[in-house]
Parts: sequence; structure tokens; C-alpha cells
Amino acid sequence: MYTQSMDIPGQQPRAVAAAEQGAQEQEFEARIAADRKVEPRDWMPEAYRRTLVRQISQHAHSEVVGMLPEGNWLTRAPTLKRKAILMAKVQDEGGHGLYLYAAAETLGVSRDTLLDQLHSGKAKYSSIFNYPTVSWADIGAIGWLVDGAAIMNQIPLCRCSYGPYARAMIRVCKEESFHQRQGYEIMLALANGTPAQKRMAQDALDRWWWPVLAMFGPHDSDSQHSGQSMRWGIKRVSNDDLRQKFVDATVPQAELLGLTLPDPLLKWNAQRGHYDFGPIDWDDFWKVVNGDGPCNRERLATRVRAHAEGAWVREAAMAHAEKQRRKAHQEAA
Ligand SMILES: [Fe+2]
Ligand SMILES: [Fe+2]
Repeated sequence: MYTQSMDIPGQQPRAVAAAEQGAQEQEFEARIAADRKVEPRDWMPEAYRRTLVRQISQHAHSEVVGMLPEGNWLTRAPTLKRKAILMAKVQDEGGHGLYLYAAAETLGVSRDTLLDQLHSGKAKYSSIFNYPTVSWADIGAIGWLVDGAAIMNQIPLCRCSYGPYARAMIRVCKEESFHQRQGYEIMLALANGTPAQKRMAQDALDRWWWPVLAMFGPHDSDSQHSGQSMRWGIKRVSNDDLRQKFVDATVPQAELLGLTLPDPLLKWNAQRGHYDFGPIDWDDFWKVVNGDGPCNRERLATRVRAHAEGAWVREAAMAHAEKQRRKAHQEAA
């Protein structure tokens, strides 16, 4: 990374450089052990940096691709109030993307590079955004379940060992909490509405429940990067533990709505003090992750088009910034 290369001058004798690297590594390990934050200018192992770039950029991509399924309903929201709320929510997601791209940039990778990776299909984003939003109830189910799952996932990230990521997450989580509530409130209105509206809410729940459980990622035993991320303090709670926490929190919420979670094996287990639930269809999950879900192609094409159509805005902003810079320069002279 760029700050690191400035820390290690090229002309040093090898032995001195190796000794310095050892000391830096020790300092890094001590920092992690003491639960102190790692900041952009601190030395960090290359693998730690790479892991963070991968995770933060995937997270940023998920936020901006996540705007698309709901954007589909901005022009069709049932009331002006619902439309205003949904617009605020979708804009928040755009903002989350911006904080996260900025956090990734502190690790020495440019936003253009990250966006190229997304647009060329090289980078991943959350599998959940490759499912269609076929009814207004889907907007409720997304807010309640998808944003609810995002909160579960992101609250432990507020304690992530990398400072800029952890700080971005604090603000993101506050906004996610509003997203979850607006979704639940849509579900509540539908569940207490006409029989057709209640059916619509149940249908949305039936379609989103399993993809949301899969969204927490593979079982701990099959999770490629989990162990090392836990040791580095990037990840604080395992995929399976987060998933269980989510199920336990969501069952009473579904009961309050009078809706049925689509899992015949869902049952309270008094011995474990948790709900047991049925097996997840991992084949479907991997199919979607690997680009073959119901909306993968559509989402990527929409994103690429939006980026291309926004080129003039970026150019105008740069031209304006350059004009301001020149003006300030002239005034100073
Ligand atoms: Fe978000
Ligand atoms: Fe959200």
C-alpha cells in the first residue's frame, strides 16, 4: 500500500529492513491483541490489507447494487409518504456506498479501480440483491429482513480492528435501523390490511426468508476467510452465530405480524435456548453468488448504464472543483 512503501525506504540494507519489518509486525500483533484500532498510516501485513480491501469493497458494492431492487418501486410506491420514505432509504444506501468506498481508498486502492472490478463482473456483492421485487410487499420484506440481517452483520463491524471501517459502520448502523423499521411498518400495514394485502405480505416473506438466511454466508466450517478474519479482529461473530441470532430475533416479529415463516422445521429448542431451523439450499446460494441468479445480469447492466450515464456529472464536478481551485489560487496570489 502507498503509505507502507513510504515507510520502507528502498536503500536500506536487507538485514536492517528485515529487522524493522519484524518489529512492525510485532507492533501490529500487539495492537490487535490490545484491541486498539489499526489506522491507515500504521504498518499492516499485506494479507490484512488485501482482506480488508476485498471485504470493504464487496460491502460498498452491495450498498450501491442494493439501491436497484428498491429503486424499481420508487415510481410505484402506493402513497406520497411511502415514496418519500423509500427515496430517503435508497439515498441512504448510496451514502453507505460512498463512506465505504472512501474507507477502502484509505487502504491505497482507488474508487475507479473498485468500480471497474464491479462493472466487469470480477467483484462480488451480496447475493440477496439478485432476487426480483415483484410486489410492494417485497419492499416491506427487504427493509424488515434484508436490512434487519444487515444490522446483525454490521453491529459487530463497529468494533472492527480497522479504524475507518469501524467508524463508517457506526453511522451506517444508525441508518439501517431506520430502514428495518420502515420495512417492518410496511409489513404491519399489509398484514393488518385486506386478505389480499395479507397474502401479498406472506408471499413476499415466503420468497425472501431463505435467501436472507443464506445472506449470512456459508457455515463456519465451509467459510474460507472466516478464521483469519476473526483472529485479526475484522470479523467478531461467526456466520452461524449471526444467523442464529437473526432467526431468534425475527420469529417473534413474524408472530406479531401474524405471518408464518416458511420453514416446517422451525421450532424452539429449550435445551439450546435458540430456535432450530431447517437446512439452507446452498446450491441455490452458490448459483446466485456465481452470477446465475434471477437478476444478476439485469442488476449489473443497470449499474453499468447508470455509471456511464453519470459520467457528465463526474466531469462537471471535477471541472467545478478545478475552477474553484484556480480562483482560490488567484486570490491568494
Ligand atoms: Fe445500507
Ligand atoms: Fe439499508
